[in-house]
Amino acid sequence: MEFEFIRRDKMKEKPKDNLGFGKYFTDYMFVMEYNEIEGWHNKRIMPYGDITIDPATMVLHYAQETFEGLKAYRGKDGNIYLFRPYMNAKRFQNSNERMCMPIIDEDLFVGAIKELIKVERDWIPSGDGESLYIRPFMFTNESSLGVHVADTYKFMIILTPVGAYYPQGVNPIKIYVEDKFVRASVGGTGYVKCGGNYAASLVGQKKAESLGYTQVLWLDGVHRKYVEEVGSMNVMFLIDDTIVTAPIDGTVLPGVTRDSILTLLKDMGYKIEERHMSIDELMEAGHTGRLKEAFGTGTAAVISPIGELYYKGDKVTINNFETGDLTHKLYETLTGIQWAKIDDKYNWRERVL
Ligand SMILES: Cc1ncc(COP(=O)(O)O)c(C=O)c1O
Repeated sequence: MEFEFIRRDKMKEKPKDNLGFGKYFTDYMFVMEYNEIEGWHNKRIMPYGDITIDPATMVLHYAQETFEGLKAYRGKDGNIYLFRPYMNAKRFQNSNERMCMPIIDEDLFVGAIKELIKVERDWIPSGDGESLYIRPFMFTNESSLGVHVADTYKFMIILTPVGAYYPQGVNPIKIYVEDKFVRASVGGTGYVKCGGNYAASLVGQKKAESLGYTQVLWLDGVHRKYVEEVGSMNVMFLIDDTIVTAPIDGTVLPGVTRDSILTLLKDMGYKIEERHMSIDELMEAGHTGRLKEAFGTGTAAVISPIGELYYKGDKVTINNFETGDLTHKLYETLTGIQWAKIDDKYNWRERVL
């Protein structure tokens, strides 16, 4: 891939510990612009820094914006890896199509990430569970008012070193089931990674937190009855010996972690049902002891065990608020592949260096 490299004079000091999530940003970022005549052009890796935006820039008013999230891992074998980046590239294309934004070729998307990671390799932390989070995003930078599909866009990639999600070991979370607000509905943008979805979900998150819950479980937008996904994770339930999860049919994000975990589960011999399960069925399974384990899946946490569900005054505790054996095994297997501690029989690791 051809690009310009604009060097910075002075490098930043790298944080040593307490990385947290999204607090520190690396020395460089990738940037390119789009217009109909030139297509994607002006590809460059340049010093991380502010960008200037006209007050009439359309993204500020009409939110034509999409993003992705993945990680670079410092493998135990000394190599640097991405995890299934072509799935993010494809999902980004689907998001951009839905938002009437230009498509980026998959090889250009992954190639730009790899070039930036090569420049910033020293920023990939090496502590247990630490990684470099990659945030590609696109927005219209056209300045004019009046709602219309914009002609010009900017694509950028920024990087942030992130700490272990579970410094004290994997811990269950408490989930609040939202019965009033909705995140997505059929025909909308639920399957798209666009900023607007997250803005609309904040009200549920705020409500959950005020009641002492970590995350929101969203129900479907029509009946407020069927289980969809959790804040920034897909969600799976082990009921008897079957895994139940919402289908990918337009209202939930098709998670890379979801797909990977379902593949592992199939190989382990579990029966999988991708279907619309009502919240009543789920709570009933919890009360009768059939709900053995529950967990969220996503790039940030990999797997988040769920220890409690709260729905309209009714509470269910799952597996005595402890991480279940299956949840634990899935976590160990997936992180084992990501950090090159175990064999990658699915060819999911994508070597950068
Ligand atoms: C709404 C939503 N669902 C699910 C996921 C999980 O997707 P992935 O496994 O690709 O990180 C995310 C995180 O990106 C998300 O924001």
